[in-house]
Amino acid sequence: MLTIAMPKGRIFEEAVGLMREADFQLPEEFNEGRKLIIEVPNEQLRFILAKPTDVATYVEHGVADLGIAGKDVLLEEDRVVYELVDLKISECYLAVAGLPNTEMSTVAPRIATKYPRIATNYFREQGEQVEIIPLNGSIELAPLIGLADRIVDIVSTGRTLVENGLVEYEKMIEVTSRLIVNPVSYRIHDERIEEIVDRLSAVIERKEM
Ligand code: PRP
Repeated sequence: MLTIAMPKGRIFEEAVGLMREADFQLPEEFNEGRKLIIEVPNEQLRFILAKPTDVATYVEHGVADLGIAGKDVLLEEDRVVYELVDLKISECYLAVAGLPNTEMSTVAPRIATKYPRIATNYFREQGEQVEIIPLNGSIELAPLIGLADRIVDIVSTGRTLVENGLVEYEKMIEVTSRLIVNPVSYRIHDERIEEIVDRLSAVIERKEM
């Protein structure tokens, strides 16, 4: 049996939908409920439902063979896993945003974000010295309340920015979800994993036509 770490929350429904399109027979338990481990004996698969930011951790440690994780999380976490397929779901992007018509302060502007590593690298490449303020959520609050000059965050529909009177200053990185694999599992179970990759890739290609 192979174990797949699935991200709970936003990506989950799309990921389950994609797997069903690829003919994986996933039971009703995937639609509702709070079970964190779901076994699907017919498919010889076991699913664990993890926090999106933790998926790559389970895969790196080998307790999950495969996982579905956002490119944002993969860049931020920098785990030892292979990326097998761009699933082209949950499309969004990372951006620098803030209050309109405001300059960043000239001395160590403060950047609030859930992505300290990505933000640090980004501003370093721009030659800007910034102070990173790590937050866990509701990042858009930071400029509104005077905690930060700018935020680095995910933009999906753009609604959160608009409803909070913020504007986008720079697009940084396009983000989609990826199928990732533990390198050792990949070596051991290469045939089965290739079969899963082929089934998913066929659906993705079909959708793009
Ligand atoms: C994410 C992200 C933005 C929002 C963007 O937050 O951090 O706040 O979604 O989506 P939109 O462009 O469609 O409005 P999430 O809802 O995951 O919650 P969080 O504030 O706890 O990070």
